[in-house]
Amino acid sequence: WQLIAPRDPRRPPLVFHYVPVIGCAVSYGMDPLGFLDECRRKYGPVFTYPLLGRKITATLGPLGSNFVLNGKLAHVNAEEAYTHLTTPVFGTEVVYDVPNHVLMEQKKFVKFGLTTENFRRYVGLIRQEVLDYMSKHVYAEGTKTVSPGTDAFETSSEITILTASATLQGREVRAAMDKSFAQLYHDLDGGFTPLNFVFPKLPLPSYRRRDRAQLKMREFYISILEKRRASTEEPDLDMLTALQNQEYKTGEPLTDKQIAHIMIALLMAGQHTSAATGAWAILRLGENQDLQRRLYEEQLEYHLDKESGKLRPLEYETLSTPLLSAFIKELLRMHPPLHSLMRKIILDCPVPASVGAPSAEPHASESFKKRNEGAEYVIPKGEYVLAAPGYSQVDEGIWGKDAKEFRAGRWLEEGNKVPGEEDEGEEDYGWGKISKGGKSAYLPFGAGRHRCIGEQFANVQLGTIIATLVRENTWTLDQDFPGNDYTTMIVMPAKPRKVTFKRREKVL
Ligand code: HEM
Repeated sequence: WQLIAPRDPRRPPLVFHYVPVIGCAVSYGMDPLGFLDECRRKYGPVFTYPLLGRKITATLGPLGSNFVLNGKLAHVNAEEAYTHLTTPVFGTEVVYDVPNHVLMEQKKFVKFGLTTENFRRYVGLIRQEVLDYMSKHVYAEGTKTVSPGTDAFETSSEITILTASATLQGREVRAAMDKSFAQLYHDLDGGFTPLNFVFPKLPLPSYRRRDRAQLKMREFYISILEKRRASTEEPDLDMLTALQNQEYKTGEPLTDKQIAHIMIALLMAGQHTSAATGAWAILRLGENQDLQRRLYEEQLEYHLDKESGKLRPLEYETLSTPLLSAFIKELLRMHPPLHSLMRKIILDCPVPASVGAPSAEPHASESFKKRNEGAEYVIPKGEYVLAAPGYSQVDEGIWGKDAKEFRAGRWLEEGNKVPGEEDEGEEDYGWGKISKGGKSAYLPFGAGRHRCIGEQFANVQLGTIIATLVRENTWTLDQDFPGNDYTTMIVMPAKPRKVTFKRREKVL
């Protein structure tokens, strides 16, 4: 049918596929960025592909990202793209289970809990969690200094949840993490998979476990709120307290249930993203001994107290040293946890010619240019659009020949500028002024109204974890550098992903 049907010139080119319902799921699922690249070479930067009953139009390149992420609310909608996955996990009345204007208010409430004051406290707490974890769970019994065959992702995952609970989630959650909370998290997380995304309702035991865990976790947070209210002690000035003190524009306060669900959303949104990034950090430094040494030397250069000969404790204000920041930026360029972001089209939506135009396509052949000159496509209501910042972040047409090379130093080069990152001004979506910046070729935290709210926290968490590991250890990769595992919601390093940590003989 595809071969004989005349193509509607107002629709983007349709990717050829053999199996009607499954569509391109196999090629996309196995290697999404490779699939997008192949399609782009055949069809240009804007094309539609069928995926398990949905029609998705990818708009590649920075202009394509901007089209999706800064699209008009009347046209593009995140709730309808994500709610079937997120609401059973986060719970109702928050994030994608509410109209956009309510989410914008909820993001503003969360911002009240992300204060500089709190970040200052967090650095020491995170450092202590890393040290405790390494000595309890990583260094082998007997030596207490060496850890052969340590799984980088499992280590990072556990450190991430312990550090997030010791800080953002509050001390009651951290205390319960050693007991029941870890299992609840595990069961809830079992409902946050591509299977749940594609088939939101299946009579599977993992779905029932997810629903039970969601209820219990909500009850747990509500019981913390109740205990805090009944207590005569001053409450910690943490996220829970910040949320308790907020009210909507209507004058209504957040209910305990909504607070519980926002806390769950923060836990889930931050866990996989930061854990995957931390794992890539461990692996990249295991692979590159020179970079590891230079990061250690940077700690000495910036933090050595000459009098005592000891490294000063890490502090929020001085945490972001140049190479450490460049390293984290490069991790998120090469290994963005979310390489693609989706929206549902709720009103027929024109794609500006500039997004799909030959001028947006550096690889275009002459015939492609001729065919598409001045093209303006329309994406009909009910279909989906996909921005792929992770694709642009390693595009040679944008970054040059070494686009796919891991090179933290690129961020330190004089005059280095992210392609497309012109100052486009700021926009206030109701939760703080943020730079519009959707046309940038570097968007690991997204752009526009749905831009990540946890960027600063993630930087503090990752920076402190990496600096602490580097100060205390050296480590090597036990095998070749791992590829990507795309079978989870967030791109993770594929197994094996093992390293051997060795505690420094002399920790300064
Ligand atoms: C949204 C990336 C950590 C909370 C997003 C989006 C991206 C992203 C790309 C945009 C999604 C979209 O437009 O569809 C990351 C990365 C992280 C990280 C790379 C770490 C390295 C965190 C943390 C938190 C968090 C630690 C919580 C403290 C959120 C929330 C949203 C979001 C609540 C939804 C915002 C909305 O739809 O309006 N994140 N994130 N993230 N992130 Fe993060």
